[in-house]
Amino acid sequence: MVPEIRYPYATLRHSMIVQDPRAGVWATDSWRAFPALQQPDYPDRAALQAVLDELRQLPPLVTSWEVVMLREKLAAAVRGEAFVLQAGDCAERFADCTPRRISNKLKVLVQMSLVLVLGAKMPVIRVGRFAGQYAKPRSDDFETRDGVRLPSYRGDIVNRPEFTTEARTPDPSLLLRGYERSSLTLNFARALAKGGFADLHHPEYFDLDWSAQSAHAGDYRRLVDTITESLRFMENVLGVKAGETDRIDFFTSHEALHLGYESAQTRQVPHRPGYFDLTAHMPWLGVRTADPEGAHVEFLRGIENPIGVKVGPATTADQLLRLLDRLHPHNVPGRLTLIHRFGAATIAAALPPLIQAVREDGRNVLWVCDPMHGNTRTTANGYKTRSFEEIRGELDQAFDLHAAHGSRLGGVHIEMTGENVTECTGGARGLAESDLPRAYETMVDPRLNYEQSLEIAFLIASKMAKLHQKHA
Ligand code: PEP
Ligand code: CO
Repeated sequence: MVPEIRYPYATLRHSMIVQDPRAGVWATDSWRAFPALQQPDYPDRAALQAVLDELRQLPPLVTSWEVVMLREKLAAAVRGEAFVLQAGDCAERFADCTPRRISNKLKVLVQMSLVLVLGAKMPVIRVGRFAGQYAKPRSDDFETRDGVRLPSYRGDIVNRPEFTTEARTPDPSLLLRGYERSSLTLNFARALAKGGFADLHHPEYFDLDWSAQSAHAGDYRRLVDTITESLRFMENVLGVKAGETDRIDFFTSHEALHLGYESAQTRQVPHRPGYFDLTAHMPWLGVRTADPEGAHVEFLRGIENPIGVKVGPATTADQLLRLLDRLHPHNVPGRLTLIHRFGAATIAAALPPLIQAVREDGRNVLWVCDPMHGNTRTTANGYKTRSFEEIRGELDQAFDLHAAHGSRLGGVHIEMTGENVTECTGGARGLAESDLPRAYETMVDPRLNYEQSLEIAFLIASKMAKLHQKHA
């Protein structure tokens, strides 16, 4: 996040967005003329309008130069010179905007990235699913309990999860609270990152107790010792204090779901062409709103930000190319990241045709694997969970499938938390379904806990190290 002038801003002189004459003229609100899925139904339209007007006046959460910096870094990842770690909660909660939770989240993100650097042997770009991941798509607009039908919970920025009419009625003032919580989260995280918060960096703060139960405990310890040595080397020999370098810059991302909120913070800035969505550095398009003719695609096509596009089992090669036509017409590397989420059982059949279509069409994209969203299931006792082994299995296959099809996996997208929750099964501690009730907190999708997150980072690092050896 420390502004650094490292990349030639070649793409800055022109907006990346070409107006496609077939698509009509884009404006921050042009999406309103398209079918918009997953939008809350606010009973008080005047109150909503007042909130959106206020959001338009408030300062941005991120700046355009940071957004451009991320775009350039992602372009480096497309060239195979950097690796992306995008991670955080499925849904942030307003109540979790506390110093401990924010610092734990940043800590696990940074620790995972330090582990990944060793395997990738290249810089790791940290992109948090935080400081604004408050709006959730739902499979049903309504939820029925004991014959009572109420709107579904759509995330803290829309309504509240309690099953009462009052809590479930979409409340526009929550948009302002979400904006403010995002700002508070970002403010504290930026200060921690900038101030050299020792916990973030130092391997002595890695909690590795869990690894004793793993067959790879020795390897993990050695990796952490290597991180310690390289940080010491930097500090002692180069005279750079680890916490004072730009090594802990990070970026923010969330699903660009609530189009009123996103477009209210989308604006032009002095001395730079185009429009920027300044609620986050990298908004993404979810699978439920990925219709190339829909409002979300219309909104995203007009902004300068790097954007993520989730790709799932239902995405056909044809649909993907149509999405790229609309969202990536300039084909500028760094603009577009495809985040695939198929499931361990599906990826081997579903991914290769998409890699091939994208390659044959000469599209410059970054490929990232989300091994979470295709591996969700419900246990007999009603808990939504994911198995560590399936998550790992999908990641392993993703690396191999890209390599086998002349492509490269350029990053991973993980739902995790810095807390010791029990939401996903497996991992070195062998969490079982019967352990889930102990510390199950998520309102939406199950996350890897602190230990499982570090463990998956070690496994990804060792997978990447093996791939390097194979190609060395
Ligand atoms: C998510 O990332 O939390 C999500 C809902 O993902 P997807 O759109 O891939 O289902
Ligand atoms: Co999720």
